[in-house]
Amino acid sequence: MLPEKGTFLPRIDQSAFTKELCALRGNLRFEEPLVCHTTIGVGGKAAFFFSPERPHALVETIRCCRRYGYPYLLLGAGSNLLFSDCGYPGLIISTEQLRGITLAEGSVQVFAGEPLPALLNTVNRAGIRSLNFLAGIPGSLGGAIAMNTGIPQRTIGDTIEEVAVLNPHGEVMVLKAKDCGFSYRQSRILEQRLPVLWARLRLDGRPYDRGEILTHRRASQPLSALSAGCVFKNPRGLSAGRMIDKAGLKGLSVGMAKVSEKHANFIVNLGGARCAEIRKLIDIVRQKVYKSFRILLELEIEVIDG
Ligand code: EPU
Repeated sequence: MLPEKGTFLPRIDQSAFTKELCALRGNLRFEEPLVCHTTIGVGGKAAFFFSPERPHALVETIRCCRRYGYPYLLLGAGSNLLFSDCGYPGLIISTEQLRGITLAEGSVQVFAGEPLPALLNTVNRAGIRSLNFLAGIPGSLGGAIAMNTGIPQRTIGDTIEEVAVLNPHGEVMVLKAKDCGFSYRQSRILEQRLPVLWARLRLDGRPYDRGEILTHRRASQPLSALSAGCVFKNPRGLSAGRMIDKAGLKGLSVGMAKVSEKHANFIVNLGGARCAEIRKLIDIVRQKVYKSFRILLELEIEVIDG
């Protein structure tokens, strides 16, 4: 496997590294196309792709990468990520197999890879409506917690009782909500890149109507198109979508990447868009919004350079 021009590959004994990975319970692949693992459908290939079957294997995989100094990136549902056209030169660790939901009195314990829609199905079947503000968000539990996803009135951080993460020393640590540093689309978990293993969510908030939330989202957001959700964070007290719209940028396109006509803070992949096209469009939108409003929009999506 030859590194692509300009990418960084540490000098490690790759056969020893892969041998250790193969000994763990999970699914190891090489040269895995990342287009299949992101909701926007963009990206080159990952040198290695491993999907552990158990939280223990996830912990051991990360410890192994740290021991070898091998670059790794945790991947949930890939709903907020933009991978480079060159792909990723290290190991992508997918949480897709780390699923499980245990309902208790007043709370629910959920593993990191559980998709939010599946979590909502389970709690709704039990007659619980307090998590329905998360309806229509395609993320995994771990990713949703890291970026404190939600709606303006409520975020997943507001429901957290505790979160189990792997700390930088490779130890499992259980954080209380107050230690997670949740703020608008931000947390200590994201800042320090702490891998989430599982979390316990409180089920005592006000009920939300799942159908109503979904209807509102379907009406205002391009949910059936390939996208990574909102591209930019809302500046305090303002709406990025409204500013992009007011700047006249709806429908603007670069190659197969286009500013959605439905919601201006979404960039949609019309089919086969390249990361470079999306990045170019992001730059244009930023410049034009700056020119119109003297506000520099901050990215909400995460761009992973190859
Ligand atoms: N607006 C426009 N034009 C547009 C889009 C929006 O004028 O093209 C206006 C709307 O009419 C509304 C205001 O801007 O008056 C705010 O729009 P919206 O209600 O759609 O909310 P938003 O601030 O754009 C936020 C979150 C969404 C979340 C919705 C739930 C951010 C960046 N976005 O959107 O989260 O789904 O609230 O109502 O915080 C995400 O984080 O990926 C995401 C989609």
